[in-house]
Amino acid sequence: MARLLSKPSAPSISSSRGNNNTNNNANNNNSKFMSMQNILSHLLFGCCCTYLGLILGMNFHTSSSSSSSSSSIQECPCLGNTYYGGSEARTRRQQQQQGAASNYVESSLGEGGGGTSSFSSFSSSRKFPRSLDNMFVDYATVPREDFNRHLEIGVPFDKTIQGAEDVLVLYTNQKSLPSNSHNSSLFKLHSEQAFENCHSVKVILQEPTKKRRSQQCIAIVPQWESYYVHKFMRLPRQKLSSGVDYQNPLRYVSRSHTDDGKFASVPMLSIHTHAYYKVLMEYLSNLDRVVHDLQRILRVQKKQIHGPDQSNAFIVMVCNLGQSELLHNFVCNARAKGIDLSRVIVFATDEATHNLCKGLGINAYYDKDIFGEIPENAAKGYGDKIFVKMMMAKVFCVHLVLSCGYDVLFQDVDVVMFKNPLAFFASDEVAEWDMMFQDDGARSVRYQPYSPNTGFYYVRNSPITMYFFGVLLRMGDLVASTKSHQAALSALLNEFASWKGLRIKTWRMGDENPFPGGVEYHRHMDYMRALVDGKVNPYIFHMSWTTNKDNKKLFLEQLGEWYLREDTGACSSPLDCCLAKPNITCHYKDKPSKIPCKSSPNIDKRGKSFWV
Ligand SMILES: *[C@@H]1O[C@H](CO)[C@@H](O)[C@H](O)[C@H]1NC(C)=O
Ligand SMILES: *[C@@H]1O[C@H](CO)[C@@H](O)[C@H](O)[C@H]1NC(C)=O
Repeated sequence: MARLLSKPSAPSISSSRGNNNTNNNANNNNSKFMSMQNILSHLLFGCCCTYLGLILGMNFHTSSSSSSSSSSIQECPCLGNTYYGGSEARTRRQQQQQGAASNYVESSLGEGGGGTSSFSSFSSSRKFPRSLDNMFVDYATVPREDFNRHLEIGVPFDKTIQGAEDVLVLYTNQKSLPSNSHNSSLFKLHSEQAFENCHSVKVILQEPTKKRRSQQCIAIVPQWESYYVHKFMRLPRQKLSSGVDYQNPLRYVSRSHTDDGKFASVPMLSIHTHAYYKVLMEYLSNLDRVVHDLQRILRVQKKQIHGPDQSNAFIVMVCNLGQSELLHNFVCNARAKGIDLSRVIVFATDEATHNLCKGLGINAYYDKDIFGEIPENAAKGYGDKIFVKMMMAKVFCVHLVLSCGYDVLFQDVDVVMFKNPLAFFASDEVAEWDMMFQDDGARSVRYQPYSPNTGFYYVRNSPITMYFFGVLLRMGDLVASTKSHQAALSALLNEFASWKGLRIKTWRMGDENPFPGGVEYHRHMDYMRALVDGKVNPYIFHMSWTTNKDNKKLFLEQLGEWYLREDTGACSSPLDCCLAKPNITCHYKDKPSKIPCKSSPNIDKRGKSFWV
């Protein structure tokens, strides 16, 4: 595409730039002008290529797409006579194209210039071919930050990067155009203005183009309405494929398919589904009894809560003996900081953990039928009933507390608190959102687009979230096949957002993240320096992105968040094991630490020292 544009296909490139200078918007600087020219050119070429694709598809099968379009550029109907009403407009369009070409050449050569030209976008001229009259009449742009302030989806909103600064708005008929569209520019409009005459806005998220990444095209098809997007790829049908190849025709694939042919498969009936049916049956046949029990426990617990009580939430955790050291540290850590834990309820999956909680003065619930018999090393029996049960314990406990009528702040045991986040979740500031997540930071396909970390999230009690967890708890076979409930939950979020209007919010990792975790610890050293220096003020820290339990402890130790005595066997009680001050110990110099750890070894092969 860019290669085509750079071809000086029209004469008098240098002189054409100053044409069409009427009605300059004073704010229109040269770079904007160029980017808009490019956007329009992209649209034109998109239309052109679709046409070409159809023609070519009828005649031959597929060939290299880039070579075919370059050889046929002159014949594109969108740029020819059919496009414009009159010869005057045609001349003007040709001049504009020349302008686009010349600007492209100049910018690609790095010769910025003090040109004064501006691209007139006034809707008096036709923007799309007549064959699209009932689809699109014009377009505008809105700065994406401004767009997100007014029409926030709730995804962890990326930082704005150069060349992907604006939202492209397409108008489907004259009535939807902004009121003053006939006499002013439609570029860089405020959201209110751009959408003032829109009854509804259909929003599509599109990742900015990356160099050497997938060559993606977008098709908008005149057809009965749909709020789903579909995906075709040039992938062979064999399961173990080598990836996209132009030899292959485009075929329908799942959204999880990647360029190299990987995709997420479905759970297997005999392994995952049958194993889960048994677990689900057990859960459902005990549900009434357990909810009844739990309701009584939580009512008593709620009465014991002192101080201002604007929250309707319980902090829900689930823990087995293997992870109990982390839970122990969480409690000692919060106590040392004076954070109130009277709203915590721990779902123990064994008796020993239940007893530990009692010893720590933490409310806990243990039910043999639903959570019991989960051995410490259950993870080894992939696909079996015990394993599914363990995976689903994290879903069951949220479903149970919701069933009792409360909001839920779910958190893993590898979270430490800096201050109690419940007041934040109860504030008006976040009243919009039904579910709020920590940003996982992993931008993999299976977590698109909310990137939810399922180790720290808030659920507001409502019919829609109740239904959400009612559905999620029936997806245990998928949870078993993906070995975590993160992918299942993430997929269901998409469905519920689209289908039921569920409002989901994830705060973006880094910078001002109120809920930082493993992605900051391992990737955002600047953020971690600010954290260590007390220059940022988050609510929690989640030692995610670290699968090994022992490493979690080492990292928390050097971060100054480990409040558990080493010789726990010598404590007279679980609370006696708690330290008043953290045991700050260096382990790795290439991981964030509260104190300089310059003489410690690296943990990563090419890790750089955190302290310079
Ligand atoms: C555009 O037209 C409207 C209505 O015709 C008028 O009120 C407004 O002042 C015009 N704006 C400019 C910049 O000419
Ligand atoms: C602090 O941690 C180090 C390393 O894990 C350990 O050797 C030491 O005994 C700990 N100190 C206390 C008071 O637990």
